[in-house]
Amino acid sequence: MYVNKIFAEKISEELTSKVLPHHPENLYAPINYILHLSGKRIRPLLVLLGADLFGIENIDDALPASVAIEYFHNFSLIHDDIMDKAPLRRGQQTVHQKWNDNVAILSGDALLIKAYEQLSQCPAPLIPDLLRVFNRIALEVCEGQQLDMDFETSDSIMEEEYIQMIRLKTSVLLGGALEMGAILAGASSESRRQLYDFGVNLGIAFQLQDDILDAFGDPATFGKQVGGDIIANKKTILYILLGETIHPEDQAHFENLLVLGQGEASEKITGIITLYEKYAIQQKADTLKQHYTALAYKSLEAINIDHQRKTELYELANQLMKRVR
Ligand code: IPE
Ligand code: IPE
Ligand code: MG
Ligand code: MG
Ligand code: MG
Repeated sequence: MYVNKIFAEKISEELTSKVLPHHPENLYAPINYILHLSGKRIRPLLVLLGADLFGIENIDDALPASVAIEYFHNFSLIHDDIMDKAPLRRGQQTVHQKWNDNVAILSGDALLIKAYEQLSQCPAPLIPDLLRVFNRIALEVCEGQQLDMDFETSDSIMEEEYIQMIRLKTSVLLGGALEMGAILAGASSESRRQLYDFGVNLGIAFQLQDDILDAFGDPATFGKQVGGDIIANKKTILYILLGETIHPEDQAHFENLLVLGQGEASEKITGIITLYEKYAIQQKADTLKQHYTALAYKSLEAINIDHQRKTELYELANQLMKRVR
C-alpha cells in the first residue's frame, strides 16, 4: 500500500490547494463542504494508478485529470442525494438538507464546470482524447441515473437490466478514471480497453457492495442512511434477488411492505430485511459480487505488463470488496 498512500496524499494536497471564491457563499460553501467530507477518493486514485501502471514519467501530470474525476463524482453525489431524498452523506448532512434543493442544484452545476476547468489543465496534446472519454462516461452516468429513477416505479426489472443500469450509473466512472490514467501514460488502445474493462467489472462489484451496505451496513461506519434504498423502493440487487426467489406465500406480504409510506419507514425496513434474511439474499448478492470481482481480476491479468506492477490495483480491489463504507 506504499504507493497508494503517497498517491492519496498527493490527491488530498491537490484538492486542498484549490481555493474557491467566498462569494456568493451559498454557491461555493456547499462545494467546499462536500469536497472536505471524508470521502474515500477512490476514483482520483484510479487515475493515478492507471497512469502509474503504464509508467507515466511525471505522476503530477495526471493530477488535473484525477481532480476532475473527483469533482465530477462529488457533483453527481450532490444531485443524486436530491434525487434519492438522502439525509446523510459521509456521516454528515447532505448538501440539500444543510442548505436546500436549489442551492444543491446550482452548487452541483458549478462543481461540474470546475471539473471541466481541471480537464483544460491536462497536458495539451492529450486533452482531445481525455475529453472524449470523460464526456462519454459523464453522459453514461446521467443515463444510468435516469434508469435508476425510472426503475423506482417499475416492479419487473430483470437482473440483466439492473446490471446494465449500475454499469452506467457507477461502473463506467471507475473504468473511465483508469482509462484516463492510461491515456496520460501513453498506453496502447488495447491496454486502455483492458484496464477500462477491469474498472467496469470492479465498478459493478463496487455497486453490488454499495447495495448490500445500504441494507446491512453498520450505521456507525456506513456514513449514509441505512435502509434508504428500501424506503425509496430502489431496484437494488437485493430487491431483484428477493423477487427471483420469494415463495408465493410471502409475495403478498412483500407487496404490502412495498407500498408503506414515509411515515412507516422503520416498519418497512424491518419487514423487508426480515425477508432478505429468510431467503439468504445477502449471501446471494455476495456471490454475484465475487463473480464480478473475478471478472475484474481476469481483465487485469490480461494486460500485457509485468505482474509486479499490478499489485496496487489488486490490493485496492481486495480492499474495496471488504469495505464497510
Ligand atoms: C458513492 O461512491 C456512490 C456510488 C457509486 C455507490 P463512494 O462510495 O466512492 O463515495 P465516497 O466518495 O467514498 O463518499
Ligand atoms: C449513485 O448510486 C451513483 C451516482 C451517484 C451516480 P447510489 O444512489 O446507490 O449512491 P449512494 O448510495 O447514494 O452513494
Ligand atoms: Mg443515492
Ligand atoms: Mg441514487
Ligand atoms: Mg447506494
